[in-house]
Amino acid sequence: MTEARRTDEATVVPYRDGPLIIRGAFRVLDQEGEPIGTPRATVALCRCGRSRARPFCDGSHRLTGFRASDRAEGPDSRECREDDGNSCR
Ligand code: FES
Repeated sequence: MTEARRTDEATVVPYRDGPLIIRGAFRVLDQEGEPIGTPRATVALCRCGRSRARPFCDGSHRLTGFRASDRAEGPDSRECREDDGNSCR
């Protein structure tokens, strides 16, 4: 199911066997709060650990056979939805 997206929010979408795609109003900062990269409307964040441009995806996941779902994974995963009062860990 696709939900309508507010224009003032960022979304994070895990792509199957690939990066996390972030769209919307967001900034990527280091631990000291300094900006990383240039502001863009969409970025891909590496989740395979093989990128040479971390935290951004450089496409290396395709070469390494990285496998991941496009959904939450693991025994502790659960949907975090604003409308049911669940909070994410
Ligand atoms: S997810 Fe693309 S290089 Fe890691």
